Amino acid sequence: MHPMTHDVARVLISEGDVQRRVAELGAQLSADYQDSNPLLVCVLKGGYVFLADLTRALTIRHGVDFMAVSSYGNATESSGVVRILKDLDRDITGRHVLIVEDIIDTGRTITYLMDNLRVRQPASLRICTLLSKPSRREVDLDIDYIGFEIPNGFVIGYGLDYAENYRNLPFIGVLKPEVYS
Ligand code: IMP
Ligand code: MG
Repeated sequence: MHPMTHDVARVLISEGDVQRRVAELGAQLSADYQDSNPLLVCVLKGGYVFLADLTRALTIRHGVDFMAVSSYGNATESSGVVRILKDLDRDITGRHVLIVEDIIDTGRTITYLMDNLRVRQPASLRICTLLSKPSRREVDLDIDYIGFEIPNGFVIGYGLDYAENYRNLPFIGVLKPEVYS
């Protein structure tokens, strides 16, 4: 057993289910983006595990780039006020861009990112998120690719952290309440 699973109350999405869904998304994206050489933009830090598996599930030519953002807020809630810590290396004008996110909660972070990237005039701009919490949404949002819709509640693993821990867990889990206090 993974030592860090001591802090996990329950597994919400198993490693096998995550891997199967990522393979499906990879196949779907490979079909949808055939011959368009898309650029996958990974939102750090939470997106790095998903990106690493997703990119290897693609059978088409594509590029990857990274953005790091920090949203002001407390440990479990984002405020929607976003600061760019690391911007893309290259210009995306005329490029088919797919944002790869770990989770969309209120939708504020991704809305900021979409607005920021749209100004650079990509050929297309879509979102691929592993997780979505629709009941928490505060802004109107069209998400093109969703791995799993999950209920409200804080989750960790597969890139998602609580206070920078648990990103390495291979499943999506819910923490024991005592971990927060
Ligand atoms: P939003 O701006 O409310 O949509 O929040 C998006 C960001 O908040 C995500 O990219 C995560 O970094 C973080 N976040 C939201 N919900 C969770 C969660 O359940 N676990 C870990 N991080 C989360
Ligand atoms: Mg994130």
